[in-house]
Amino acid sequence: MKIAILGMGSVGRGLLEMIDGKELGLTVTGIADSKSALLDPDGIHIEEVLIAKRERGYCGDKSLSAADVVEQGDYDVLVEVTPTDADSGEPATGFIKTAIGRGKHVVTSNKGPIALHFSTLQSLARKHGVVIRYEATVGGAIPVLHTLEHGLAGNRVLAVYGILNGTSNFILTRMAAEGLTYEQALLEAREMGYAEADPTYDVKGIDAAIKLVILSNTIWKRNVKLSDVTITGIDMLTNDALRLAEEQHCTIRLIAEAIPEKGILRVAPRILPRTHPLVVENTLNAITIDTDMAGEITLIGKGAGSRETASACIGDLLFIKDSHARGN
Ligand SMILES: NC(=O)c1ccc[n+]([C@@H]2O[C@H](COP(=O)([O-])OP(=O)(O)OC[C@H]3O[C@@H](n4cnc5c(N)ncnc54)[C@H](OP(=O)(O)O)[C@@H]3O)[C@@H](O)[C@H]2O)c1
Repeated sequence: MKIAILGMGSVGRGLLEMIDGKELGLTVTGIADSKSALLDPDGIHIEEVLIAKRERGYCGDKSLSAADVVEQGDYDVLVEVTPTDADSGEPATGFIKTAIGRGKHVVTSNKGPIALHFSTLQSLARKHGVVIRYEATVGGAIPVLHTLEHGLAGNRVLAVYGILNGTSNFILTRMAAEGLTYEQALLEAREMGYAEADPTYDVKGIDAAIKLVILSNTIWKRNVKLSDVTITGIDMLTNDALRLAEEQHCTIRLIAEAIPEKGILRVAPRILPRTHPLVVENTLNAITIDTDMAGEITLIGKGAGSRETASACIGDLLFIKDSHARGN
């Protein structure tokens, strides 16, 4: 199956390395970064592109762009792994719409287009007989969307709860374990490369809320928006609050939860017993799905990382490839 990849950052490079190192039956015919692009319908030499990107900072021909890859490339699936713009979803949404309009499937790790334009993109995909898959947008390597779609098929999902942001979980873990202040733990998260220079989205709960919107719309098709989520971050949390929780054999975690029957759609710090399945450490993510037949299922895993996110994208790609082979 032929694929074109937009974005050669952490996720894009991870994907290319995995595709190059494993025999997955995927041929890369287009690649773009922010400054250049490459097209070859017979397959691009991945190792050469990775070296070029590392050595000179761009992947291909500077007279070509991502738009050229999307509009002219010879591919079955567009893999969209460019940065998230949570306000407009652009330019990714435009690329995705163009690809769908050309009858191409889409795999993306980009939360912007999915959180902002879910129903538009899904109906466009249906109209053109293609699919858009976005496992990597929620929970990194955790196959939560696949589990919902397949493993739990036929179940009614009653609620979903989770730790959907590894940076804030790392900060809370370090505050509880070492008695660090919020500022000290944030500094450590930055030094470890877990927090961005501007950590607002992570620590104010916005990133977790965007993922909750994606999960909710996937499960219940309700078309909720970020503004529907009640959000409290961890940035005002004190050591005293954590110490008090610890004295009761509890701890505090930033929990995203959606319970439609109770009208709950929120992200907030919650006190949980230390033995609770959602109490995971450091940058791990955890998601509990509560269902009518299977009861509660909790998935735990790495919520970010180059190879980990590539794992989710490759799962989506191979699902499309297998469906193709079955003629679906
Ligand atoms: N990293 C993770 O662990 C993780 C986990 C889950 C989801 N995600 C999501 O996955 C996406 C990619 O993440 P990342 O960590 O790989 O980001 P990143 O390291 O910042 O890389 C982004 C890549 O996109 C390229 N790019 C920017 N604008 C572009 C444009 N207009 N056209 C084509 N390429 C463009 C950049 O080009 P240059 O190289 O020229 O700058 C860069 O190669 C984001 O939406 C992120 O939220 C990431």
